[in-house]
Amino acid sequence: MQPDIDVGDRLILRPWRESDADAVLKAFSCPEIQRWHVRRMDTRDEARDWIAGWPARWDDGTAASWAISRDDEPVGQAGLRNLSLHEASAALSYWVLLEARGAGIAARAARALTDWAFETLGLHRVSLEHSTANAASCRVAAKLGFPAEGTLRGSGRHADGWHDMHLHARLRTDVSPGASGVGRGARPGR
Ligand SMILES: CC(C)(COP(=O)(O)OP(=O)(O)OC[C@H]1O[C@@H](n2cnc3c(N)ncnc32)[C@H](O)[C@@H]1OP(=O)(O)O)[C@@H](O)C(=O)NCCC(=O)NCCS
Repeated sequence: MQPDIDVGDRLILRPWRESDADAVLKAFSCPEIQRWHVRRMDTRDEARDWIAGWPARWDDGTAASWAISRDDEPVGQAGLRNLSLHEASAALSYWVLLEARGAGIAARAARALTDWAFETLGLHRVSLEHSTANAASCRVAAKLGFPAEGTLRGSGRHADGWHDMHLHARLRTDVSPGASGVGRGARPGR
């Protein structure tokens, strides 16, 4: 079972539920989330399908997504993409609902997830890519203590064309930027 991960301050990362469909639909109606995650959603059925796809990806150990929930209500998403337990690496993904932004939710949730990925999954490297035009995500990466490693030219395809992408990453052996609530539990792919 995909575990809950405690973030602290009433925030918990928990697996998505079918009843979260309205929150997911709302998220992918946000132009910034559509833009940077390169997808939109128009119906509750699409949101339900998005939610229903995660357990299989957890089971095969290739990706995972959690609702960032406050008082059990989703305020965002944090997840691991391109997950490889063999390579001990993954890429971080996050978005936060418009009304919840600017309160440190993305940074705290992503830090708790990264700590869990190092300590429980045993990952060695967690990376993060964002368009060079996405200044807020670059700031989140800096707050997370993910040093910039360079610019990947024309590597992200967005609705308006190819974007240069900043690559950031943290290694398990890097000094942690700060304490976070770390949940324990199952590994994917088992
Ligand atoms: C990026 C995103 C997840 C940040 O969520 P959040 O909960 O507001 O993030 P945090 O509060 O932890 O940190 C955001 C930081 O970016 C800063 N910021 C916000 N907008 C900014 C902008 N346009 N330019 C520069 N910095 C910006 C904030 O001031 C804050 O920094 P601070 O704490 O030093 O003041 C959210 O804006 C979002 O969902 N955006 C759309 C989807 C997206 O971009 N996902 C990432 C794809 S790589």
